[in-house]
Amino acid sequence: MAIDQSLSNHEMIGRADVNDVDAILAITNTAVDEVAHAVRAEGDAIFTWDYEQTRAALHKLYEKAKTSQWNGSTDLPWELEVDQEAVVAANQAQNDMLYGSMDMTDTPFEKWGEKEWIEFGVQSQNWTLSQFMHGEQGALICTAQIVETVPWIDAKYYASTQVMDEARHVEVFARYLDTKLSGHYPINAHLKMLLDDIIADSRWDMTYLGMQVMVEGLALAAFGFMHQMSTEPLLKKLLRYVMSDEARHVAFGVLSLQEYYAELSGPEIRERQEFAFEAAVRMRDRFLQQEVWERMGVDVKEAVKVVLRSPDRPVFQSMLFSKIVPNCKKLGLLDAGDGWLRERFTDLGVIQFEDWVDTGEEYDALDEVAKDRAEVST
Ligand SMILES: [Fe+2]
Ligand SMILES: [Fe+2]
Repeated sequence: MAIDQSLSNHEMIGRADVNDVDAILAITNTAVDEVAHAVRAEGDAIFTWDYEQTRAALHKLYEKAKTSQWNGSTDLPWELEVDQEAVVAANQAQNDMLYGSMDMTDTPFEKWGEKEWIEFGVQSQNWTLSQFMHGEQGALICTAQIVETVPWIDAKYYASTQVMDEARHVEVFARYLDTKLSGHYPINAHLKMLLDDIIADSRWDMTYLGMQVMVEGLALAAFGFMHQMSTEPLLKKLLRYVMSDEARHVAFGVLSLQEYYAELSGPEIRERQEFAFEAAVRMRDRFLQQEVWERMGVDVKEAVKVVLRSPDRPVFQSMLFSKIVPNCKKLGLLDAGDGWLRERFTDLGVIQFEDWVDTGEEYDALDEVAKDRAEVST
């Protein structure tokens, strides 16, 4: 049994032990200077001649998306000045610095004082928002792909609104990075591998599973976490508006796949479970921020060891999966095939979220844009 599992881990994620730090850090972005990156996508572009809108839940989502569009140039307070170092210091003070309570003897951080921790916070923020921006471009491409490949007219309609949403998200993250922060980072290698895999898969439902359920499920949780931790009003509003859209995107994935998975065979479902697991591991790996440690000039492996034993780490890491796990459960992926994915999520330490609220219906409650407009009109 153990041998079987390690073999399949090797095939899926390239290593037997999901926690093998050497193997994780061995994957780096070797093309940091490239300005364009091509991925071959082989899916068929599907016309449908059936224009009848028979899927009520997708139709409702489409109508909602049409009235919840916002303008990245005029709906956010770009006039606010951002002093990044002051913001980092305020965030660290408000949230108890992540590593503040740890004993740093014999670690690369032994001699670090306030100045280094602030610089780390600055780099970490540049890195985090850069990865969000790259991920948003991945969503833009994947969703344009769904417009072509999904066979249902209601889904093509909805996906077209998401394409506009994602363009706006890339735009606002890029503008925030360029005008308020202090530098970009290239895409993290683990995130890049995942986006490439999703785009290259020719099956339309795999695009949904990789992007709408896994990547956007994680993004929704991560944006929520960052929104809560941030003291900077422009970023807070930006994140809150992006989250309003993301909740719809994840709902789009859940509502579409629920119908489609009901028709799939056991082996087909198992492939989806494996894909979900692979995506979960890639996303977890990217949060080690290896490029930030490199830029700070510390030994990456030693730094990562400290990160892994930080008392806040398990909470932060598992929180990222708080939307993914209930959504996988709702799709039947958790327990199909004798609970294969349940076992993997248990190993990753995230199974405790299985009964949290799923995102099929949550988008109304998260629609900050509609709430703001209601306030203005009263
Ligand atoms: Fe997005
Ligand atoms: Fe999205």
